[in-house]
Amino acid sequence: MATQTITQTEIAPSVSISAQSLPERPLPESVAKVEQVKEETKEQPAEPGKEKPKVRRVIDEEGGTTTATYPHYLPVWNHGEEYPPWEPFTHTEHGKDADPSFKDLLIDGAKIQHLTPTTGSEVTGVQLSRLSEAGKDQLALLVAQRKVVAFRDQDLADLSIQEALDFGGYFGRHHVHPTSGNPEGYPEIHLVYRNGSSSEFESFLANRNSSVAWHSDVTYEEQPPGTTFLVILDTPEVGGDTAFVNHVEAYNRLSPAIKERLHGLTAVHSGFEQAEFSRSRGGVVRREPVKNSHPLVRTHPATGEKALFVNGGFTRSIDGLKKEESEYLLKFLLDHIGRGIDYQARVRWAPKTVVVWDNRVTSHSAIVDWVTGERRHLARITPQAERPYETPYVAETK
Ligand SMILES: [Fe+2]
Repeated sequence: MATQTITQTEIAPSVSISAQSLPERPLPESVAKVEQVKEETKEQPAEPGKEKPKVRRVIDEEGGTTTATYPHYLPVWNHGEEYPPWEPFTHTEHGKDADPSFKDLLIDGAKIQHLTPTTGSEVTGVQLSRLSEAGKDQLALLVAQRKVVAFRDQDLADLSIQEALDFGGYFGRHHVHPTSGNPEGYPEIHLVYRNGSSSEFESFLANRNSSVAWHSDVTYEEQPPGTTFLVILDTPEVGGDTAFVNHVEAYNRLSPAIKERLHGLTAVHSGFEQAEFSRSRGGVVRREPVKNSHPLVRTHPATGEKALFVNGGFTRSIDGLKKEESEYLLKFLLDHIGRGIDYQARVRWAPKTVVVWDNRVTSHSAIVDWVTGERRHLARITPQAERPYETPYVAETK
């Protein structure tokens, strides 16, 4: 079967440290619950006979000093953090009813260049952190239409982490990743981190031929992410690109007969393997894993487009089908998505780039192809969106 377990971040060792005060910060409503839990579970002095929670910090692994450009974004894993199951929330889709002229987003001096006809764009001359509400609404719509948009020369990484979160929180409730590292005190930021050493590269490829691992992020959640942000902090000069595939176009390429058959089917998305992978390596599992069934074809609330909603990271089986049938159909769909280079786009990172994608209608893969020892360090802001829904199949007119 073509599914792969996505581990999100794969870095190692662990150290113990004493409690440190977390940065003072206001409590945005959307994360108040997380903050409350964090406050209850954050590292406390050990009671006699009780061990303090283990905390791993990359800064310690690097010997207490670092050449990272943004040291306060280096990953930390706190084994003392535990979060309750997510409560459903009402998502507001800001791309819906946004002005399609994009006049508040693509302001004077802005340039947009499409990477391919259907998928991906690159924008210069826009500062995301300074967008008005209308501009943010149009950002959500543009990203829904283009699936992925790279914005160059951004200041998001230079603002405080809280300011970056406040910006991203406009688009939905912040997801807190169950297993990944985060900047200390900010569990809502998911970090992607590799030091780029040749040993890391070799171990990554020890049991696979290619680093390509198509996935959409955390689709096991009842309300998976929508408009999603990745902020580059350090990048190899060459290498470490991220590739995206357009699931609307993947759906559009199917024959009417297959499209019609897929409608009404749902598939299981599971976070159990990711949690197990983390546990097996002594990592954190901050929230117990969940499975959710989602439609195989979902409709985007802003564009009305239909997209295949399966991915190699988390989709495990198709409800109601027997094992062989489910595996066969899933393999076909995942192969179709993975090989569709004519509806994929590859984004090259550069310092101060922010990439925004719509996680509802894409999957992506990092490309691990550099052995220069350069660090690849990114921060993801991951607003959750609506529970995936489908609208009926519409017969195509000739
Ligand atoms: Fe991802």
